[in-house]
Amino acid sequence: MADAEWWRSAVVYEIYVRSFADADGDGLGDLPGIRSRLPYLKELGVDAVWLTPFYPSPGADHGYDVADYVDVDPRFGTLADFDALIADAHGLGLRVVIDIVPNHTSSEHPWFRNALSDPEHPDRRRYVFAPGRAVGPPNNWPSTWGGPAWTLDEGSGEYYLHLFAPEQPDLDWHHDAVRADFEQILRFWLDRGVDGFRIDVAHGLYKDERLRDEVEPFPVAAFSFDWRAAIDQPEVHGVYRDWRGIADAYEGERVLVGEVTFSDPARVAPYVRPGELDLAFNFTLLFEPWDAERIRGAVDRSRSALAEVGATPTWVLENHDVTRLPTRYGGGREGARRARAAALLLLALPGCVFLYAGQELGLEEVELPDELRQDPIFFRTRGARKGRDGCRVPVPWTREAPGFGFTTGSPWLPMPAEWAGACVEAQREDGDSSLELHRAALTLRRRSNALRRGSFEWLESAPGSLVFARRAGAETVVCAVNVGAEPLALPGGEFLLASESVIGKQLPAGSAAWVVSRDRPE
Ligand code: NOJ
Repeated sequence: MADAEWWRSAVVYEIYVRSFADADGDGLGDLPGIRSRLPYLKELGVDAVWLTPFYPSPGADHGYDVADYVDVDPRFGTLADFDALIADAHGLGLRVVIDIVPNHTSSEHPWFRNALSDPEHPDRRRYVFAPGRAVGPPNNWPSTWGGPAWTLDEGSGEYYLHLFAPEQPDLDWHHDAVRADFEQILRFWLDRGVDGFRIDVAHGLYKDERLRDEVEPFPVAAFSFDWRAAIDQPEVHGVYRDWRGIADAYEGERVLVGEVTFSDPARVAPYVRPGELDLAFNFTLLFEPWDAERIRGAVDRSRSALAEVGATPTWVLENHDVTRLPTRYGGGREGARRARAAALLLLALPGCVFLYAGQELGLEEVELPDELRQDPIFFRTRGARKGRDGCRVPVPWTREAPGFGFTTGSPWLPMPAEWAGACVEAQREDGDSSLELHRAALTLRRRSNALRRGSFEWLESAPGSLVFARRAGAETVVCAVNVGAEPLALPGGEFLLASESVIGKQLPAGSAAWVVSRDRPE
């Protein structure tokens, strides 16, 4: 496990804890369930897993509302289960990155309870409380999920700030105790052997201290943080420089990954300057359609902004907050085909790749009846936004409904009957399945220096296609993606892998292939 800077070319597999594997039959995934599936992840060929929050939480935002940062929610297991999971993962050569949520706590966190119970309590200063204006809240800031970002504390007549749900009060990072406590929280988990942290809302911790109004009208943007002047404050970088020092004091290579939600990679780059975070999610591809020029533009923008600061790009096509990829790409057979091609694109791009559980199975977004929805986005927007439940339906392992090997009980969200054909068991038996394609690609990526660490160069190709070379030493791997062009001739070299059967050396639209060549010694 001593690979220097392993994260620069890693494939990190995101596990939405409540949806991966349920060991105790309560219908919710848990840590022992994850532990039992580690051999699957090893065999799939990923390098690390990222666990979404498993801390004690009332679950208003399914764990992103933390009531205790240094324990495990009993629904997900115990600290002993966590330790056993780390030990097993490390035994298999898999690293474990955990989510940390420093922007806000749960309204049930003892700090916030103290803050509400007594305006003089020292814990009140950990949060952003302010008196209202003549009518209503202290300023015009909206919550990311609809309605104002302020809720009245009736006891004191002041308002408290929450960029997300009212059950997620924002911490005031100008207060030294907040900063000091989070350093202890990081150490607690580093001492237990975690390989790093995924930092939630990493750009948001500090807000404009003067609480000035935002300019109206507020845009409706895919990246809801782009327009906010109140966040992305310079002080936040001092926190990450301190965290870097903490992580670096531990043996091994502990990684810090920031969720920095701006659409312009140039605004993300300062977070990954030397001495700050190692990586930041690059969400640009999440918001591009299946269009060669748009994808090429996103890749170029990301690479050049990060090159300016010497940082490694990351690539994300799915996570627990966005619609599943095959559905975004049109759904049905066409969406599935494009998603397979995109998998080869993704796994050939230079840098660190994030895969979301179920992405390897090509799962589609699930249409759920409104009465089963649980996401606060659905409720806070009164149904105007459906929310994220459709990408959080548990992972199907075997063919038996209703639990599909995820649970022996009743899954917390119903799993579609047709997932009997999409489950791991079925896909293992089918050499052409999405799972087998991902496994083959991951195996090749692991074995190829060019794919992991090689240089990157676009090659000339027909409009509607993307062709690039990754080169290391004598080895060159070419990735050709026919997004929407006429059939594309396979590049020369030894064929490695394709997302569809290649007939007559032509790649049809909606397919991709990898080819390798080796320079002959002079
Ligand atoms: C980003 C997380 O990915 C999302 O699931 C969560 O709701 C928000 N941050 C708030 O914590």
